[in-house]
Amino acid sequence: MLYSELFAAALRASRKRELSTAVEALIESSFAISRSRFWIQKNQPVRDAAGLRRFRRRLRRLLADEPLAYILGAKEFYGELLLVSPAVLVPRPETELLVEKALQLLGREPLRVLDIGAGSGAISVLLALRSRAEVTALEKSRPALAVLRKNIARFGLQERVRPLAGDLFPRRGERFQMIVSNPPYLSRRDWRNAPATVRLFEPRVALEAGPVGTEALAKIIAGAPGRLEPGGRLLLEIGRGQHRAVSGFLRAAGLRERECVRDYAGIDRVVVAQN
Ligand SMILES: C[S@@+](CC[C@H](N)C(=O)[O-])C[C@H]1O[C@@H](n2cnc3c(N)ncnc32)[C@H](O)[C@@H]1O
Repeated sequence: MLYSELFAAALRASRKRELSTAVEALIESSFAISRSRFWIQKNQPVRDAAGLRRFRRRLRRLLADEPLAYILGAKEFYGELLLVSPAVLVPRPETELLVEKALQLLGREPLRVLDIGAGSGAISVLLALRSRAEVTALEKSRPALAVLRKNIARFGLQERVRPLAGDLFPRRGERFQMIVSNPPYLSRRDWRNAPATVRLFEPRVALEAGPVGTEALAKIIAGAPGRLEPGGRLLLEIGRGQHRAVSGFLRAAGLRERECVRDYAGIDRVVVAQN
Protein backbone atom coordinates (compact mmCIF):
# COMPACT_ATOMS: atom_id res chain seq x y z
CA MET A 1 0.00 0.00 0.00
CA LEU A 2 1.21 3.50 -0.88
CA TYR A 3 1.00 6.42 1.58
CA SER A 4 -1.41 8.15 -0.82
CA GLU A 5 -3.67 5.06 -0.85
CA LEU A 6 -3.63 4.94 2.95
CA PHE A 7 -4.64 8.61 3.08
CA ALA A 8 -7.42 8.21 0.51
CA ALA A 9 -8.82 5.10 2.27
CA ALA A 10 -8.87 6.94 5.60
CA LEU A 11 -10.80 9.85 4.08
CA ARG A 12 -13.29 7.48 2.43
CA ALA A 13 -13.87 5.78 5.78
CA SER A 14 -14.44 9.11 7.51
CA ARG A 15 -16.81 10.52 4.88
CA LYS A 16 -15.99 13.93 6.28
CA ARG A 17 -13.69 16.09 4.18
CA GLU A 18 -12.90 18.29 7.15
CA LEU A 19 -11.08 15.36 8.74
CA SER A 20 -8.32 15.50 6.12
CA THR A 21 -6.13 17.72 8.32
CA ALA A 22 -6.71 15.36 11.25
CA VAL A 23 -5.78 12.34 9.12
CA GLU A 24 -2.60 14.12 8.02
CA ALA A 25 -1.80 14.77 11.68
CA LEU A 26 -2.32 11.06 12.46
CA ILE A 27 0.03 10.04 9.62
CA GLU A 28 2.58 12.55 10.88
CA SER A 29 2.46 11.24 14.45
CA SER A 30 2.09 7.52 13.65
CA PHE A 31 4.99 7.35 11.18
CA ALA A 32 7.04 10.13 12.81
CA ILE A 33 7.32 12.01 9.53
CA SER A 34 6.55 15.66 8.83
CA ARG A 35 3.56 16.61 6.71
CA SER A 36 5.78 17.86 3.91
CA ARG A 37 7.74 14.55 4.02
CA PHE A 38 4.44 12.68 3.72
CA TRP A 39 3.44 14.64 0.62
CA ILE A 40 6.90 14.13 -0.93
CA GLN A 41 6.83 10.35 -0.37
CA LYS A 42 3.13 9.82 -0.92
CA ASN A 43 3.69 7.47 -3.86
CA GLN A 44 6.10 5.25 -1.97
CA PRO A 45 4.99 2.00 -0.30
CA VAL A 46 4.38 2.05 3.45
CA ARG A 47 7.09 -0.19 4.96
CA ASP A 48 6.80 0.84 8.62
CA ALA A 49 4.56 -1.96 9.96
CA ALA A 50 4.52 -0.63 13.54
CA GLY A 51 3.65 2.83 12.21
CA LEU A 52 0.82 1.35 10.18
CA ARG A 53 -0.61 -0.42 13.24
CA ARG A 54 -0.38 2.83 15.24
CA PHE A 55 -2.07 4.75 12.43
CA ARG A 56 -4.95 2.25 12.18
CA ARG A 57 -5.52 2.28 15.96
CA ARG A 58 -5.57 6.08 16.02
CA LEU A 59 -7.80 6.33 12.98
CA ARG A 60 -10.36 4.06 14.65
CA ARG A 61 -10.44 6.46 17.59
CA LEU A 62 -10.86 9.46 15.29
CA LEU A 63 -13.72 7.75 13.44
CA ALA A 64 -15.37 7.07 16.82
CA ASP A 65 -15.48 10.90 17.32
CA GLU A 66 -12.65 11.11 19.84
CA PRO A 67 -11.06 14.59 19.73
CA LEU A 68 -7.78 14.60 17.81
CA ALA A 69 -6.08 16.33 20.75
CA TYR A 70 -6.71 13.31 23.03
CA ILE A 71 -5.43 10.89 20.38
CA LEU A 72 -2.25 12.92 19.92
CA GLY A 73 -2.00 13.77 23.64
CA ALA A 74 -1.34 17.43 22.81
CA LYS A 75 -3.02 20.61 21.60
CA GLU A 76 -1.61 23.85 20.29
CA PHE A 77 -2.78 26.87 22.26
CA TYR A 78 -1.57 30.45 21.83
CA GLY A 79 1.42 29.18 19.84
CA GLU A 80 2.53 26.57 22.41
CA LEU A 81 2.00 22.82 22.50
CA LEU A 82 0.23 21.74 25.71
CA LEU A 83 -0.13 18.17 26.92
CA VAL A 84 -3.74 17.05 27.22
CA SER A 85 -5.58 13.91 28.27
CA PRO A 86 -9.29 13.09 28.66
CA ALA A 87 -8.95 14.40 32.25
CA VAL A 88 -8.86 17.98 30.93
CA LEU A 89 -10.84 20.13 28.55
CA VAL A 90 -9.20 20.54 25.15
CA PRO A 91 -8.11 24.21 25.16
CA ARG A 92 -10.30 26.27 22.82
CA PRO A 93 -9.44 29.18 20.51
CA GLU A 94 -11.97 31.43 22.33
CA THR A 95 -9.84 31.14 25.46
CA GLU A 96 -6.92 32.65 23.55
CA LEU A 97 -8.92 35.91 23.60
CA LEU A 98 -8.97 35.80 27.41
CA VAL A 99 -5.20 35.19 27.48
CA GLU A 100 -4.63 38.05 25.03
CA LYS A 101 -6.71 40.47 27.11
CA ALA A 102 -5.07 39.38 30.37
CA LEU A 103 -1.59 39.86 28.87
CA GLN A 104 -2.53 43.38 27.73
CA LEU A 105 -3.64 44.27 31.24
CA LEU A 106 -0.71 42.60 33.01
CA GLY A 107 1.95 44.44 31.00
CA ARG A 108 5.42 43.98 32.52
CA GLU A 109 4.31 44.03 36.17
CA PRO A 110 5.01 40.93 38.32
CA LEU A 111 1.38 40.68 39.44
CA ARG A 112 -0.27 37.88 41.45
CA VAL A 113 -2.88 36.07 39.38
CA LEU A 114 -5.41 33.42 40.34
CA ASP A 115 -6.65 31.08 37.57
CA ILE A 116 -9.84 29.31 38.72
CA GLY A 117 -10.38 25.94 37.03
CA ALA A 118 -6.92 25.75 35.49
CA GLY A 119 -7.46 22.39 33.71
CA SER A 120 -4.50 21.64 31.42
CA GLY A 121 -2.99 24.97 32.50
CA ALA A 122 -3.69 26.61 29.15
CA ILE A 123 -4.30 30.05 30.71
CA SER A 124 -1.88 29.79 33.66
CA VAL A 125 1.03 28.53 31.59
CA LEU A 126 0.60 31.07 28.82
CA LEU A 127 0.29 34.00 31.26
CA ALA A 128 3.45 32.89 33.03
CA LEU A 129 5.30 32.39 29.75
CA ARG A 130 4.34 35.72 28.22
CA SER A 131 4.32 38.03 31.25
CA ARG A 132 5.98 38.33 34.65
CA ALA A 133 2.84 37.15 36.49
CA GLU A 134 3.02 34.76 39.45
CA VAL A 135 0.11 32.41 38.92
CA THR A 136 -1.87 30.28 41.36
CA ALA A 137 -3.50 27.60 39.19
CA LEU A 138 -6.46 26.26 41.14
CA GLU A 139 -8.26 23.11 40.06
CA LYS A 140 -10.86 20.85 41.63
CA SER A 141 -10.26 17.67 39.62
CA ARG A 142 -7.31 15.54 40.82
CA PRO A 143 -6.72 13.88 37.42
CA ALA A 144 -6.70 17.34 35.78
CA LEU A 145 -4.16 18.56 38.36
CA ALA A 146 -1.79 15.79 37.26
CA VAL A 147 -1.91 17.08 33.65
CA LEU A 148 -1.52 20.65 34.89
CA ARG A 149 1.63 19.70 36.82
CA LYS A 150 3.09 18.05 33.71
CA ASN A 151 2.55 21.20 31.67
CA ILE A 152 4.08 23.39 34.37
CA ALA A 153 7.16 21.14 34.34
CA ARG A 154 7.23 20.93 30.54
CA PHE A 155 7.73 24.70 30.36
CA GLY A 156 9.99 24.87 33.43
CA LEU A 157 7.51 27.13 35.25
CA GLN A 158 7.67 25.53 38.72
CA GLU A 159 8.78 28.86 40.22
CA ARG A 160 6.02 30.91 38.61
CA VAL A 161 2.94 28.69 38.48
CA ARG A 162 1.68 27.08 41.69
CA PRO A 163 -0.82 24.25 41.19
CA LEU A 164 -3.41 24.14 43.94
CA ALA A 165 -6.23 21.68 44.65
CA GLY A 166 -9.39 23.51 45.68
CA ASP A 167 -12.97 24.49 45.13
CA LEU A 168 -13.23 27.89 43.37
CA PHE A 169 -10.97 29.85 45.75
CA PRO A 170 -7.83 29.03 47.75
CA ARG A 171 -8.59 28.21 51.36
CA ARG A 172 -6.13 30.79 52.66
CA GLY A 173 -7.62 34.26 52.31
CA GLU A 174 -4.83 35.76 50.17
CA ARG A 175 -5.70 38.48 47.66
CA PHE A 176 -4.75 38.72 44.00
CA GLN A 177 -4.24 41.57 41.54
CA MET A 178 -6.02 39.60 38.84
CA ILE A 179 -8.44 36.67 38.79
CA VAL A 180 -8.99 34.85 35.51
CA SER A 181 -11.30 31.97 34.82
CA ASN A 182 -12.75 29.92 32.02
CA PRO A 183 -15.23 28.11 34.26
CA PRO A 184 -17.79 25.48 33.27
CA TYR A 185 -20.64 27.46 31.69
CA LEU A 186 -22.91 25.01 29.88
CA SER A 187 -26.42 24.36 31.16
CA ARG A 188 -27.62 20.79 31.61
CA ARG A 189 -29.51 21.13 28.35
CA ASP A 190 -26.45 22.50 26.48
CA TRP A 191 -24.52 19.49 27.75
CA ARG A 192 -27.15 17.04 26.51
CA ASN A 193 -27.14 18.76 23.09
CA ALA A 194 -23.35 18.99 22.83
CA PRO A 195 -21.78 17.16 19.87
CA ALA A 196 -20.71 13.55 20.50
CA THR A 197 -17.05 14.49 20.26
CA VAL A 198 -17.57 16.70 23.35
CA ARG A 199 -20.19 14.73 25.32
CA LEU A 200 -18.60 11.30 24.99
CA PHE A 201 -15.01 12.33 25.65
CA GLU A 202 -14.53 15.62 27.48
CA PRO A 203 -14.96 15.87 31.29
CA ARG A 204 -18.46 16.93 32.22
CA VAL A 205 -17.16 18.77 35.31
CA ALA A 206 -15.17 21.02 32.97
CA LEU A 207 -18.18 22.01 30.91
CA GLU A 208 -21.49 21.77 32.74
CA ALA A 209 -22.14 24.28 35.51
CA GLY A 210 -25.66 23.19 36.51
CA PRO A 211 -29.26 23.47 35.33
CA VAL A 212 -28.86 27.10 34.19
CA GLY A 213 -25.22 27.31 33.05
CA THR A 214 -24.21 30.46 34.94
CA GLU A 215 -23.87 28.81 38.39
CA ALA A 216 -20.06 28.78 38.49
CA LEU A 217 -19.83 32.31 37.03
CA ALA A 218 -22.21 33.57 39.73
CA LYS A 219 -20.15 32.01 42.54
CA ILE A 220 -16.84 33.29 41.18
CA ILE A 221 -18.21 36.83 40.81
CA ALA A 222 -19.75 36.78 44.30
CA GLY A 223 -16.46 35.64 45.83
CA ALA A 224 -14.16 37.87 43.76
CA PRO A 225 -14.39 41.16 45.73
CA GLY A 226 -13.08 39.38 48.83
CA ARG A 227 -10.11 37.96 46.88
CA LEU A 228 -9.13 40.92 44.69
CA GLU A 229 -6.88 43.78 45.70
CA PRO A 230 -8.51 47.22 45.33
CA GLY A 231 -8.43 48.01 41.58
CA GLY A 232 -7.77 44.33 40.77
CA ARG A 233 -9.30 42.84 37.64
CA LEU A 234 -11.55 39.90 37.02
CA LEU A 235 -11.54 38.30 33.55
CA LEU A 236 -14.14 35.67 32.76
CA GLU A 237 -14.90 33.60 29.70
CA ILE A 238 -18.68 33.32 29.25
CA GLY A 239 -21.08 31.40 27.01
CA ARG A 240 -23.42 32.62 24.31
CA GLY A 241 -26.32 34.65 25.74
CA GLN A 242 -24.82 34.92 29.26
CA HIS A 243 -23.57 38.51 29.14
CA ARG A 244 -26.69 40.09 30.62
CA ALA A 245 -26.83 37.69 33.55
CA VAL A 246 -23.12 38.16 34.18
CA SER A 247 -23.46 41.99 34.14
CA GLY A 248 -26.18 41.59 36.78
CA PHE A 249 -23.92 39.40 38.97
CA LEU A 250 -21.13 41.99 38.66
CA ARG A 251 -23.40 44.84 39.72
CA ALA A 252 -24.70 42.84 42.66
CA ALA A 253 -21.12 42.13 43.77
CA GLY A 254 -20.14 45.80 43.47
CA LEU A 255 -17.64 45.14 40.66
CA ARG A 256 -17.39 47.59 37.78
CA GLU A 257 -17.71 46.07 34.31
CA ARG A 258 -15.01 47.55 32.10
CA GLU A 259 -15.27 45.72 28.82
CA CYS A 260 -16.67 42.73 26.99
CA VAL A 261 -14.61 41.19 24.19
CA ARG A 262 -16.43 39.48 21.32
CA ASP A 263 -15.08 36.33 19.74
CA TYR A 264 -14.56 35.80 15.99
CA ALA A 265 -18.19 34.71 15.64
CA GLY A 266 -19.34 38.02 17.18
CA ILE A 267 -20.41 36.40 20.48
CA ASP A 268 -19.78 38.23 23.79
CA ARG A 269 -17.03 36.01 25.17
CA VAL A 270 -14.69 37.65 27.69
CA VAL A 271 -15.92 40.00 30.39
CA VAL A 272 -13.45 42.29 32.16
CA ALA A 273 -14.42 43.80 35.50
CA GLN A 274 -12.59 45.78 38.17
CA ASN A 275 -12.78 45.84 41.93
C1 LIG B 1 -13.85 25.02 30.97
S1 LIG B 1 -12.58 24.13 31.84
C2 LIG B 1 -11.22 25.26 31.62
C3 LIG B 1 -9.87 24.62 31.62
C4 LIG B 1 -8.73 25.56 31.23
N1 LIG B 1 -8.65 26.68 32.15
C5 LIG B 1 -8.93 26.06 29.83
O1 LIG B 1 -9.31 27.23 29.68
O2 LIG B 1 -8.69 25.31 28.87
C6 LIG B 1 -13.08 24.38 33.53
C7 LIG B 1 -12.17 23.75 34.57
O3 LIG B 1 -12.68 24.10 35.87
C8 LIG B 1 -12.56 22.97 36.73
N2 LIG B 1 -13.58 23.17 37.78
C9 LIG B 1 -14.91 22.94 37.72
N3 LIG B 1 -15.51 23.28 38.87
C10 LIG B 1 -14.52 23.74 39.69
C11 LIG B 1 -14.51 24.25 41.04
N4 LIG B 1 -15.62 24.33 41.76
N5 LIG B 1 -13.33 24.63 41.56
C12 LIG B 1 -12.19 24.55 40.82
N6 LIG B 1 -12.13 24.09 39.56
C13 LIG B 1 -13.29 23.70 38.99
C14 LIG B 1 -12.81 21.79 35.81
O4 LIG B 1 -12.29 20.61 36.38
C15 LIG B 1 -12.08 22.25 34.54
O5 LIG B 1 -10.73 21.86 34.57
